[in-house]
Amino acid sequence: MPENTLTITDNRTNKSYTVPVENGTIRAMDLRQIKTGPDDFGLMTYDPAYLNTASCKSSITYIDGDKGILRYRGYPIEVLAERCTFLEVAYLLMFGELPTEKELNSWIYDITHHTMLHETTKKFMEGFRYSAHPMSMFVSTIAALSSVYPDAKLVRSPKDRMHQIVRLIGKVPSIAAMSYRHNVGFPYVYPDNDLSYTENFMNMLWKMVEPKYVAHPAISRALDILFILHADHEQNCSTSAMRSVGSSETDPYLAVASAASALAGPLHGGANEEVLRMLEEIGTKDNVPAYIKRVKDGHFKLMGFGHRIYKNYDPRAKIIRWCAEQVFEVTGRSPKLDVALELERIALEDEYFIKRKLYPNVDFYSGIMYQAMGFRPEMFTVLFAIPRTAGWLAQWEELMKDPEQKIARPRQVYLGPGEREFVPIDKRVPVPIPAEYPSH
Ligand code: COA
Repeated sequence: MPENTLTITDNRTNKSYTVPVENGTIRAMDLRQIKTGPDDFGLMTYDPAYLNTASCKSSITYIDGDKGILRYRGYPIEVLAERCTFLEVAYLLMFGELPTEKELNSWIYDITHHTMLHETTKKFMEGFRYSAHPMSMFVSTIAALSSVYPDAKLVRSPKDRMHQIVRLIGKVPSIAAMSYRHNVGFPYVYPDNDLSYTENFMNMLWKMVEPKYVAHPAISRALDILFILHADHEQNCSTSAMRSVGSSETDPYLAVASAASALAGPLHGGANEEVLRMLEEIGTKDNVPAYIKRVKDGHFKLMGFGHRIYKNYDPRAKIIRWCAEQVFEVTGRSPKLDVALELERIALEDEYFIKRKLYPNVDFYSGIMYQAMGFRPEMFTVLFAIPRTAGWLAQWEELMKDPEQKIARPRQVYLGPGEREFVPIDKRVPVPIPAEYPSH
């Protein structure tokens, strides 16, 4: 029997099948030959929430969840966070190598010269309700860019794809900042090309009447590091949405809007906003044990804890903890940090969390830090979406170049009724509506 194969015996038929094993996987389509008879469709795998299914081959991000390792294109996240800027990392994600100085300068120039939004996009944003959530505005405005750039439909043209990629990375901070200014009722601020990516973002958020906005260097560097940490995370929910929607060859604005919509959920990018609310609810360190007891009794989850992939300390959470200390040196220490540290201490010693391998994830400390920097909780997911746009686009580019990919289309296990005879309306018997649905 050749090495790197798997032999499966079907006990229903006593037949054996040998299928190749490549990169630690078997091809799901190789199972289709396993049938009980000519009318049998063939064996499928059932994997709700894709717990054990690789949907693509990728060379972008590597995670070892048991060891707590995260690398972009082979470089450990700790090294990139210490030595690079976010745009340098965005280049690495996109092209696979760190840029030379010349390449980096030209990349920065290109991104910087695509930060402006069309005036009609500004008008579009003005139409949002005064209290609109910044993430709802962000998602809708990204989708609206599809109407501004008809050339975005040319997704089979590498040149046009790159044009949209540069535009999107350039424009997401502008849209994010305008969402914030709209939410607080301040006039929008136009980009300033003299500033770095993060400084310019801070300028568009917080510039008031001063002629030139000057960001505190420690805060803008901390934000840049946060952007690096959030730039990609392989096939998570939003990236899978990006790939799945992108596989229909829709334009990247619509695909990024879909990915950002997935990110908005509280189990994904919305978690740091929930962490802050949780810390507010707990209030002081003394209330931590009682709160943990309620988590263990199943009343709710401990937000910012646990991860589908990391069964160890999330390496990003460690860097954020360090970063938070740097920010607090400028802003003063947040009392929420003490509550968070106490939560972490107690949880990490508790059998419930140890048994389930639940550790702090990237969202556990980021919210406290964002708040200290001056961000409102409504902005937290938007702050996640800005750098993740670079990751989504790198994954999209990889998808578009992958000859094995087709339109994404999972299978299902159908458990509904077989063919039934149609019942005319006057012959139908009322079926009580389940109690969980209110009457309407
Ligand atoms: N607090 C308490 N218990 C948790 C938990 C948390 N934050 N996260 C997971 N668990 C428990 C589950 O209840 C389950 O327990 P059980 O085996 O007794 O049923 C067990 O740990 C496994 O969790 P499961 O829900 O199967 O893990 P998952 O991989 O499907 O979920 C998350 C991963 C991230 C969705 C989940 O950990 C979570 O909801 N965390 C809080 C939200 C959050 O911080 N999200 C940001 C992710 S970066």
